[in-house]
Amino acid sequence: MTRPTPPARPLDGRLAVVTGASRGIGRATVRSLAELGAHVVAGARAEDELAALAAEHANVHALPLDVADADSVRTFADAVHRDHGPVDVLVANAGIGVFGPIEATTLEDWDRVFDVNVRGTFLVVQAFLADLRARRGHAVLVTSDVSARTFAGGALYTASKHAQRAFARALQMEVEEDGVRVTEVRPGVVATAFGDGTERPAEYGALESDDVAEAIAFAVTRPARVRLDELHFHPMGQKAEY
Ligand SMILES: NC(=O)c1ccc[n+]([C@@H]2O[C@H](COP(=O)([O-])OP(=O)(O)OC[C@H]3O[C@@H](n4cnc5c(N)ncnc54)[C@H](OP(=O)(O)O)[C@@H]3O)[C@@H](O)[C@H]2O)c1
Repeated sequence: MTRPTPPARPLDGRLAVVTGASRGIGRATVRSLAELGAHVVAGARAEDELAALAAEHANVHALPLDVADADSVRTFADAVHRDHGPVDVLVANAGIGVFGPIEATTLEDWDRVFDVNVRGTFLVVQAFLADLRARRGHAVLVTSDVSARTFAGGALYTASKHAQRAFARALQMEVEEDGVRVTEVRPGVVATAFGDGTERPAEYGALESDDVAEAIAFAVTRPARVRLDELHFHPMGQKAEY
């Protein structure tokens, strides 16, 4: 008796890279893209968490990555190209947040947030841009609902997210002729360990990481004629602010 062939999945044959994949939104996105058939390379600094994630799926591979370190990004990209090939879907998700009044913000805080969120996005996108052009690929930048608004105590973080938004838009303008799509993903509050390292409970009135992963999966599985420039969404428990 022949076994039935499993149905084709939307991302079969595609290679995806997800940064900030060791926990939170990135980890949920790795799982979701892998379940849709993609071969996924998961990058972050926490190698034990990455290894545990890779052990869950035959089509997930873990590689150490510090997006703020140009040498680390280069080593990561070389390994991806050597061992897996050109990238079809890049999810630039790695990010950190430091919050507080401007007087209390140190230069070290400033540099750390900009190094990961802004410099890191630049380095990672640049490392895979030739692939995206060659493959008519898709870049997803996870920014935040605060990439186009701000609040007292959010100067540093929201400035970094505004910068990522500008970068995403300029990127789309530069690559559109090659059929590359760029999607800025702008969730409101998500129940992760983000910010202060404390995992927030679901009753906090937050989105789940899976909600964001599903939005990313939706964006990257649209027909080639559809470009979703941004996805802006919130938990119902978050006050509407624009
Ligand atoms: N949680 C929210 O409310 C929320 C809302 C809107 C947008 N976001 C954005 O969503 C993204 C993911 O955040 P999250 O909520 O999932 O937070 P999280 O649970 O703290 O996860 C952050 C991820 O980024 C990685 N990361 C941090 N620094 C890195 C570096 N230098 N190099 C490589 N990876 C690094 C971390 O891995 P390692 O520490 O192992 O490197 C981790 O996997 C961020 O860009 C954040 O700004 C979050």
